Amino acid sequence: MNNTPAGRVIPRMNGLGFGGDWNPEQWPQHVWDEDLRLMREAHVNLVTVGVFSWAYLEPTPGQYEFGWLDTVLDKCLAAGVAVDLATATASPPPWLGHRWPESLPVTDDGTIWTYGARQQYCPSSSAYRERAWALTERLVSRYADHDAVVMWHVGNEYGAHTPACWCDTSAEAFRDWLAKRYDTIDDLNTAWSTAFWSQRFSDYAEVIPPRRTPYFPNPTQQLDFKRFSSDTLLELFKAERDIIRAGSPSDKPITTNFMRFFPHADYWDWARAEDVVSDDWYPDLADPLSHLEGAAGADLMRSLGDGRPWLLMEQAVSAINWRSVNPAKSGGAYRRWSMQQVARGADAVLHFQWRASIGGAEKWHSGMLPHAGPRTRTWREVVALGAELDGLADVAGATTPADIAIVLDWPSWWALELDSRPSTRLSMVRILRSWYEPLWRRGYSVDFAHPESDLSEYRLVLVPQLYSVTDHGAQRLVDAAQAGTTVAVGYFSGAVDEQDRVRSGGYPAPWTDLLGIWVEEYRPLLPGEAVPLQATDDGAAGASASEWTEHVHAESAEVVLSYVGGDIDGCPAVTRRSLPSGSAAWYVSAGLDQSTLDDLLLRIADESGSTPILVEAPPVDVEVAMRQTDQQRYLFLLNHGGTAVPVSVDDGTGCAWSRVDDGTPVADRITLDAGDVVVLSTARERMVDPA
Ligand code: GAL
Ligand code: ZN
Repeated sequence: MNNTPAGRVIPRMNGLGFGGDWNPEQWPQHVWDEDLRLMREAHVNLVTVGVFSWAYLEPTPGQYEFGWLDTVLDKCLAAGVAVDLATATASPPPWLGHRWPESLPVTDDGTIWTYGARQQYCPSSSAYRERAWALTERLVSRYADHDAVVMWHVGNEYGAHTPACWCDTSAEAFRDWLAKRYDTIDDLNTAWSTAFWSQRFSDYAEVIPPRRTPYFPNPTQQLDFKRFSSDTLLELFKAERDIIRAGSPSDKPITTNFMRFFPHADYWDWARAEDVVSDDWYPDLADPLSHLEGAAGADLMRSLGDGRPWLLMEQAVSAINWRSVNPAKSGGAYRRWSMQQVARGADAVLHFQWRASIGGAEKWHSGMLPHAGPRTRTWREVVALGAELDGLADVAGATTPADIAIVLDWPSWWALELDSRPSTRLSMVRILRSWYEPLWRRGYSVDFAHPESDLSEYRLVLVPQLYSVTDHGAQRLVDAAQAGTTVAVGYFSGAVDEQDRVRSGGYPAPWTDLLGIWVEEYRPLLPGEAVPLQATDDGAAGASASEWTEHVHAESAEVVLSYVGGDIDGCPAVTRRSLPSGSAAWYVSAGLDQSTLDDLLLRIADESGSTPILVEAPPVDVEVAMRQTDQQRYLFLLNHGGTAVPVSVDDGTGCAWSRVDDGTPVADRITLDAGDVVVLSTARERMVDPA
């Protein structure tokens, strides 16, 4: 149970943030005044300025022009619009690549990426670093005490386009990084299993990044290069952060915007390095369950910040411009998805971008203020949402206690999805989502957790996919189970250590005692292949496995589902071991069909003593979320479906809810219109414990 105390994450702001990236340098000055007037009309109180302004702040190396930004910030202050000031280092001007070509990134096959788009820098380049840090220093010394500035935005979406660089400078930095991780070259040889294929190094000088090779590059080399690349980008963030910390008041928090389930940066490390977590979310409108990703991503952001509120730094009001087809958001999705993020911990709803551009690569990306101006549906929805968030000001700082945690680890994700595995069909995010889905539907609050964190505070810890685990991480799960937490482990977990070396002796070696089983052989399935499953209690009719099966032996566990037919006919597929602490340890060895997985996880959650937010399961497509402060509890109800449905609001406390928008009391049931969102609140003093 996460019990982080409630508290505001942007100390100099009241209420929830609303606004977006404002790029005044794209417009003549008279437009700035119109912008600020319209911002006030839309209840905008926070804008991010300067993300892509480098070329306008430093037109040639060392020659700075801050006059226009002085004007912008002064105008913001006068208009009462707070500023999240960017360090402007996300997109170097052409002069950097022109004058210092070695600052350009190089791909694994030696291709040089040149300027003309954005993020074209080698993270290890000293020219990039020197120029970026010099600019950051200037910005901090000039604006740290400006009253418009309430927080700092370092870089932008680190790694989004250039997650790594394979150049010679990067190779040298990679060797330095490795030399810190492995004392001697022989330690590296052992860790990388270089006895295989004659890959043994005689000297550190021979070590290179995983460039193009005739066949699979060494897996541990690939894994360490991913670690190195995440660390190197993080080093860039930290360097700018430290420059800001040295010169800026401590109540102006520092962030950089994440990208949800982004594969190239270990966000647990990153989140620890920032004052507040912020995130960008661009749902795929072709995915009918994009709201599920909306929920899971928001829960991840809340969890990365250790339960504290986070900021939705970017989203689109309507269309984006970078998928193959980019539909408009319709049917109230903009409001509902925005509210969903608030429901799950966001204390700001910000956008890319304030005013839609008329030139450049993103002119067909929607803005809060569209090309057609304020006489538009988009604008009306923006203004309405701004007003609604104003009315929810007291939600700022509220937190969400959770009984359940899902374990997520970036290095394990990287290792799982390298080449040369038993199956390339396994996707960590897809597996996590399939486990998250039934809990979300039932309305459990769910955190994500690092495998090496203290997991014993939760009633239930799910490990849907953790291919690789450290000794410490493996022990954490055992400790939690011993302390009374129920645990459930999914297939192909605990298979290797952090160097991608197999933990032998029967999989998943670190947990065979805990789970009371051992696995003889992994048996991935071909596309289209499915294996029927049978329940020991004759339930689960029609259950089947696809994608993955295992040859499991149950020792001290009871068999809940078993395989039917083939080599592993009658062998356990799902097992449950009762633990002395009173909890249970479950193992799921197969890619269960979604409905069997749903039933199983709801049973496990229920048995674990976890409490869903509402006593009665909400109707299909209705999402429930809870936030609380010391004074109030807020119940968010979101109808993602196309029909009106009644929802019971009984949360088991007997409390009296009322609508936040108009104060109407809600006794026990409320009808939620198609696509609608309703927020209820109750004073915490009025909570009546039924016990
Ligand atoms: C983000 C980026 C923004 C903008 C947006 C468009 O990745 O940070 O600058 O490009 O995407 O959706
Ligand atoms: Zn490089």
